[in-house]
Amino acid sequence: MSTNMVKLSEKLSISPIVQGFWRLEDWKWSDKELASFMNACIERGVTTFDTAEIYSDTLCEKMMGEAFAADPTIRNRIQLVSKTGIFKEKTFGYYNTTYDRVITSCKESLQRLHTDHLDLYLIHREDPCLDPWETARALKDLKKEGLILEAGVSNFDPFKFDAMNTAMDGELVTNQIEWNPVCFEHFNTGMMDYLTVRRIHPMIWSPLAGGRLFKGEDEQCRKAMDKIREIADRHGEDPSTIIYAWLKYHPVGAAPISGSNKLSRLDLALRALNVKLEHYEWYEIYVASGQQVLR
Ligand SMILES: NC(=O)c1ccc[n+]([C@@H]2O[C@H](COP(=O)([O-])OP(=O)(O)OC[C@H]3O[C@@H](n4cnc5c(N)ncnc54)[C@H](OP(=O)(O)O)[C@@H]3O)[C@@H](O)[C@H]2O)c1
Repeated sequence: MSTNMVKLSEKLSISPIVQGFWRLEDWKWSDKELASFMNACIERGVTTFDTAEIYSDTLCEKMMGEAFAADPTIRNRIQLVSKTGIFKEKTFGYYNTTYDRVITSCKESLQRLHTDHLDLYLIHREDPCLDPWETARALKDLKKEGLILEAGVSNFDPFKFDAMNTAMDGELVTNQIEWNPVCFEHFNTGMMDYLTVRRIHPMIWSPLAGGRLFKGEDEQCRKAMDKIREIADRHGEDPSTIIYAWLKYHPVGAAPISGSNKLSRLDLALRALNVKLEHYEWYEIYVASGQQVLR
């Protein structure tokens, strides 16, 4: 096991860079090609895989399950993360975090993924109609039955996190949140401080802003990338490596989720584990897009 693993609890550690599968349907891979990509991730120490029930309307989980069936050695070498809570009625999206729905969703995910348990199960988004006691009862029952090892949430603000974690008797192990050089929501809500002081490590989605940073289509991305490229030149590294190094530098101890299907880009993310930014460089990126100011 890599020494860089991010310890979420006594029972669960995740890899320092996680592989995300949200875009899997677009990759147009066979189950064998997907299994081969998964093996290449594992060889690199990227052993945590992230998916969700809602990704491609359950197809993402199904495709991953077929790859696990094609190569049964994969499942026991990874930490598997999935999420529930987002649903669609025709084109209308809504949330459902009721007891029955969470239990049923988990069992359906296990079937699609050809596995008997998830290592981590997350409530995908803030549900305005959330009853923390009811949702927590479902997550606790799933843990008791051994269907999930640990539970967490995603995209929660500090109030919602606190509500759920109170009902969970403090057992939530992560909040999966968006953070990149053009997205600072969780700094501005106080979530980063909330997590840092409690030593709860977040998983970070869209670490490269979903690729938007590289397109140069908007002013904030252009400004952020100008600075990131300058810092990348100083270190002799790729700009994406510098972004991952910036995410890893913060004391919250984050595990970014790479969304690319290219191993060369995953390798650029992994290089960040050996790059040490100067302290002032962290702030250069923090203010580069113009969204954040230092007082
Ligand atoms: N909890 C949530 O609500 C939530 C929301 C969204 C995502 N997620 C999770 O987070 C994971 C990562 O999110 P993400 O896919 O948005 O992450 P990301 O790594 O920020 O973006 C990946 C995208 O950026 C492109 N890209 C990467 N490097 C590039 C470069 N140098 N030049 C141009 N394009 C580049 C990739 O294209 P290539 O594939 O061609 O490299 C891919 O389309 C998802 O897979 C999912 O598991 C969670």
